[in-house]
Amino acid sequence: MDYDVTQVDKVMEDYGKNPVSIIGMLQDIQTRFRFIPREAVRRLSEVLNIPESQIYHIVTFYKAFSLVARGKHEIRVCLGTACHISGGKRIAEGFENTLNVQTGHTTKDGQFTLETVNCVGACGLAPVVMVDEEVHGMVKPSKIAEILGHYK
Ligand code: FES
Repeated sequence: MDYDVTQVDKVMEDYGKNPVSIIGMLQDIQTRFRFIPREAVRRLSEVLNIPESQIYHIVTFYKAFSLVARGKHEIRVCLGTACHISGGKRIAEGFENTLNVQTGHTTKDGQFTLETVNCVGACGLAPVVMVDEEVHGMVKPSKIAEILGHYK
């Protein structure tokens, strides 16, 4: 997929094309595309005269940046101890099967990225699933479709 580099140009203009503001520019690009496309890195490198390797170094250093496309919604299935004991693994598999996507990947329609995490601090509600910033507690496999329905 090709990404509209004019949006990258616009971001650079917002920062006066000042290479010192590269992190701010990357944050804005991450917000616009929900990840940092390789085309964007190339364009930043060309215009700001920063080696691509240096930009990749920044992108991989900060957790907030992603080099792979992210879905509109992030699903994080907790596999911390309390959630694991309460069937978290089955919940993770249930999401994989329902969405037809492997953990760590994004659905083809770009709606959901599925991840697992270790404890989100809501152990009393195990097993827990976070969708974006929303906590779903005591999740049962039979509730997965219903949960997803809220975000379609
Ligand atoms: S282990 Fe899942 S919320 Fe703590």
